[in-house]
Amino acid sequence: MFSCQMSVGDVDGADVTTIEGLSPDGTHPLQKARVAEQVPQCGYCQSGHIMRAAALLSDNPNPTRDEIKEEMSQNLCRCGTYNRIFKAVERAASQA
Ligand code: FES
Repeated sequence: MFSCQMSVGDVDGADVTTIEGLSPDGTHPLQKARVAEQVPQCGYCQSGHIMRAAALLSDNPNPTRDEIKEEMSQNLCRCGTYNRIFKAVERAASQA
């Protein structure tokens, strides 16, 4: 589910991690991998993609390329950086 489709009441009492909480200093493997793969163009999609990737790797630490494609394609990147997005998730998975 997308956070933009949830109300605060939907997560009442739950722990919620935001992009700011993922790594205060930007050193989370996914953040470092996106820099290394030069993923963002405009950056509009970045927070959503990083958080979706974090959830994916939490559930599945070694996803296949097809699993990454299926998961990450649910978030729109208007700049079309999907190949770099997929590579960054693979890079982060290999470093975790
Ligand atoms: S980098 Fe521009 S929307 Fe994804």
